[in-house]
Amino acid sequence: MTKAVLGIIGGSGIYDLPGLENVREEAITSPWGEPSAPLRRGEMAGLPIVFLPRHGHGHALSPSDINYRANIDVLKRAGVTDLVALSACGSFKEELPPGTFVLVDQFVDRTHKRESSFFGRGCVAHVSMAHPVSPLLARHLAAAAEAEDIAFARGGTYLCMEGPQFSSLAESLTYKAQGYSVIGMTNMPEAKLAREAEICYASVAMVTDFDCWHPAHDAVTVQDIIRVLNSNAEKAKALVARLARDFPREHEPCPVGSDRALDTALITAPAA
Ligand code: ADE
Repeated sequence: MTKAVLGIIGGSGIYDLPGLENVREEAITSPWGEPSAPLRRGEMAGLPIVFLPRHGHGHALSPSDINYRANIDVLKRAGVTDLVALSACGSFKEELPPGTFVLVDQFVDRTHKRESSFFGRGCVAHVSMAHPVSPLLARHLAAAAEAEDIAFARGGTYLCMEGPQFSSLAESLTYKAQGYSVIGMTNMPEAKLAREAEICYASVAMVTDFDCWHPAHDAVTVQDIIRVLNSNAEKAKALVARLARDFPREHEPCPVGSDRALDTALITAPAA
């Protein structure tokens, strides 16, 4: 049996976890470079938790400048078995208004300037991304959201754009017509790397705006986002506290194989 260690990646507006007890800062070094910040390790209701603010302290890193490989690597080295990504996003659906938490279950990757794999020359692997979110982790998140009375949606597709500029109207209308649910700038390659690291991953996409497709919301502004961000951040902290309280203490094997993804992925022959 493996002990569960819950990782939390905080996005825009979430730079600490107030309920974390016995907090230790840990600067784990990674061969992949500098993570966004030192890890903050502690417990909530006795469950080991490792927290990492994705954009660094003072929100110094733009989505394209985040070292996603170093972030996932240090979380893996810290023993994280299950990882929850908290992220702000725009919505493509009237029924997902600002304030809604979307437990996305699919991603479309439109990023193009990011290192997105731990594998490459010398060791080639192709992990499955058919089911990028761990269903058990998503189920625990849904139960926590329900218990905390947070408006949420089960499932949805997250379009990850490169940014840092927001989408043009044509892009926004195209994504909406494709049926995508939300848009953000950070869940890719994070989800891919978590899978390569055999960490169960689930994303809580917290809607801050309607992007620019909505006739009543002509353009996204950071000011509009910040207005919603702070109340979303408060709800996210309550969500994490409830999740930690009710989370199984033993890691549960992932039904889609997130925690053993490399069993069927390595293609390079072992050295003779
Ligand atoms: N993050 C929050 N709102 C967003 C939007 N509309 N587009 C991309 N990323 C976002």
